[in-house]
Order: sequence, then C-alpha cells, then structure tokens
Amino acid sequence: MRYFSRVKDLGNLRQAMQEAKEIKNDRFKYVELGKNKTLLMVFFNSSLRTRLSTQKAAMNLGMNVIVLDVNQGAWKLETERGVVMDGDKSEHLLEAIPVMGCYCDIIGVRSFAGLKDRDYDYAETVFNQFVQYSGRPVFAMETATVHPLQAFADLITIEEYKEVKRPKVVLTWAPHPKALPQAVPNSFAEWMNAADVEFVITHPKGYELDSTFVGDAIVEYDQRKALEGADFVYAKNWSCPGVTNPSDYGQVLSKDMSWTIDTEHMSWTNDAHFMHCLPVRRNMIVSDDVIESPRSIVIPEAANREISATVVIKRMLESLNI
Ligand code: CP
Repeated sequence: MRYFSRVKDLGNLRQAMQEAKEIKNDRFKYVELGKNKTLLMVFFNSSLRTRLSTQKAAMNLGMNVIVLDVNQGAWKLETERGVVMDGDKSEHLLEAIPVMGCYCDIIGVRSFAGLKDRDYDYAETVFNQFVQYSGRPVFAMETATVHPLQAFADLITIEEYKEVKRPKVVLTWAPHPKALPQAVPNSFAEWMNAADVEFVITHPKGYELDSTFVGDAIVEYDQRKALEGADFVYAKNWSCPGVTNPSDYGQVLSKDMSWTIDTEHMSWTNDAHFMHCLPVRRNMIVSDDVIESPRSIVIPEAANREISATVVIKRMLESLNI
C-alpha cells in the first residue's frame, strides 16, 4: 500500500480487520519489518492521540521516528503556488516536501482544512502535494477532509463491543463553540457504509455532509427518531460543509444545546455505547454523566488508534520491499 486516505486503499476490509485482530493479539509480531526504516510524522496542526498512537505503532514495527511540528521550529511554509514570497514565509512546500522525503521511508501528514475555500480543502491540496512530490508512501493523519486512522480504529472498536450481529450505528452532530472540519464525520460515514451495520446520520438542516461520504446512509433530521434503538452513538461536531449553500462553508450555523448527548438522549437508545474521537468538549458535545458512564467506550476507541496505525504502517513497509 503506497497511499492511505480512504477506506478503499485497504482493499478487502474484512481482511484488514482480521489483520487488526492479529496485531492486537501480538502487536510486536512484525517488529523486524521496520528495522533501519524511518517514519516521518509531519504536523501542521496539534495532536495528542495521533501523535502518540502513530509513534507507538511505528515502534511496534521496529522503526525509527522523526516528528516535525511545522509551526514550531521549522521555517514558515508557503503552500500556494504562484505567490510572491515577500512575506513571513521563508520556504515553499514544493521544496520542503522532497527534502523531507530524503530523510525517511514513509511519511504521515496532518493538515486540517482551512474552512475558507471549500474547493481548495476538498481538493486535498496539501496531502496530494506530499503524494506527488515526496517520493515516499504517504498516509493521512487527518487531512482537510478525512481522518481514516480514526475511522479504522472506530470500526475495530465497534466490532469488539457490538452485542448484535448487525448493530445500529448513529452519527449525531452536537454543538461546539468553534468551527471544526468535517474530516472525522466524513471518514466515519465512509467506513460505516463499507461495514456491515445499519447506519444513520442526524444533524440540523444545513449540516449535510458531502454525498461522496454519505453514500447510502439514512439521513434523519429528527435526532430523537435517529437515536431510537441505536446500539452505538457516535457524537461529533462539524462546521457547515457547504453542500446546500456553498457560501456557508466552514460556518457555525447552530449552537443548539438540545443536541448535546445527555442521559435523556441515551435513554432513547438500545442502551447504546457512546463514542467520540476525542478531544471532546464536555457539556457541549456530551454530558459528564454520559462520557463517564460504563457504556462510554471513548478510551478503548482511542487505544485502538495504535492498532489501526500499526496495520497501515505495516502494509506500507511491506510495499517498500516489492
Ligand atoms: N482523535 C484524534 O485524532 O485526536 P488528536 O487530534 O489528539 O490526534
């Protein structure tokens, strides 16, 4: 596998899930695979889970790891081509990327959406420049529009905790004070559509996700109706994707606190497990009671980030030897 940003990049999903199980049973099984190989993790944005879990995954595989925080200690990077660089940016990404490729074997990239220009964000301009110019296998550690390592970990977690063969999984929008990207809900929707689950998305009007990711999911605007009978509740905020009204792209259209997941919301479900990718704003997205309840699986969900990253990096290491 040379590139990883979408579920299709894994090929047979059932096989990938089996590999995840195998790695969870013995996470050091492939420790020889990464000997004398280097992973470069490039962060344009902050991270706790992705940073730690991906580094741990590379260590499980015997790799060396370099972490570059672009906004701390590196030259300020220009990302737009054609710009007269007479401002505070000293280096262009188009030189920086091939240079980064000289020092490593595999690259992971975190680069969030700017939420100003939908076309620029949905073209995945920064991630695709790494793919085009680094000369290395590249994987997404959350890009402008997708967060596949998170969605893969979410699916592993659902498989581990499901109590019925085909669970009902509900992705629900919840309020947040700031504009957030659509990467997590986009990937979660994409992966749930590829899995054997009944999948429902609920959000206020105006928050419709891109149809590429919604696929065949049921969209229900009545949150209570959507949550009825749910086995898993996946809460997440996202800003306006600009599908129905492009000029609203990246805007906060609602802070309606009636969408916050609390014990009353959970009482409408089939004693559902609560999920969130973290970090989470308590009592905006979810009440203290719900996130602290025995049905909350946010910590095992975060733990599975190590497993999803180990599978992805292992496959990239294997591709180096072909
Ligand atoms: N869920 C997730 O990606 O967390 P971080 O932003 O802390 O990496």
